[in-house]
Amino acid sequence: MKFFIDTANLDEIREAHDLGVLDGVTTNPSLMAKEGITGEANIKAHYKAICKIVNDKVSAEVIATDYEGMVREGKELAKLDDKIVVKIPMIRDGVKAIRYFHSEGIRTNCTLIFSSGQALLAAKAGASYVSPFIGRLDDIAFDGLDLIAQIVHIYQNFGYETEVLAASVRHTMHLIKCAELGADVVTCPLKVITGLLKHPLTDSGLAQFLADHAKAASK
Ligand code: E4P
Repeated sequence: MKFFIDTANLDEIREAHDLGVLDGVTTNPSLMAKEGITGEANIKAHYKAICKIVNDKVSAEVIATDYEGMVREGKELAKLDDKIVVKIPMIRDGVKAIRYFHSEGIRTNCTLIFSSGQALLAAKAGASYVSPFIGRLDDIAFDGLDLIAQIVHIYQNFGYETEVLAASVRHTMHLIKCAELGADVVTCPLKVITGLLKHPLTDSGLAQFLADHAKAASK
């Protein structure tokens, strides 16, 4: 399973990369705005800076919502670095843009997926990734993990190559359940990845080992 970090914060991206388990990054316009990155030139420079840190894919989202605009913006983004994946919203023109990028060999991540039907459509259009938002579904009392299971099942039925990128991941159990269900990628905040480190028996076990060692050494 691949781990992507869901942020535009360079320090967090570096920290996750330094841990040695990071595969890629996803961003969205809200995350870029949170870092105060505005204006086309600054946004492009920021994506380049992110690409310098990580080894694998970096999702960069288009702002346009019409076909021509998405194609124009997506081509510009894809030119920035080989690691860029053009993130396209699940709307009618988005599906057409995904098909276009597929025919041009440009990778896409279809975002804002909330149903298995949308995921099926994105796969048929040739998306490289689909991003089902599980936390936002949980927020409105639908089980986001059920959606991951449905999409994995459908893609396996037909052998679609589109990767299931579980998004809007809020906590460590989300990540573990996505791994059990066979999501190809999970994108999440840094704290969800570092949350995997924690177990009280690890802490107490290590404390005991060190205490026993110190006792024996002092004899
Ligand atoms: C995915 O690519 C999105 O950026 C993200 O996971 C959305 O998560 P949120 O619901 O925590 O905003």
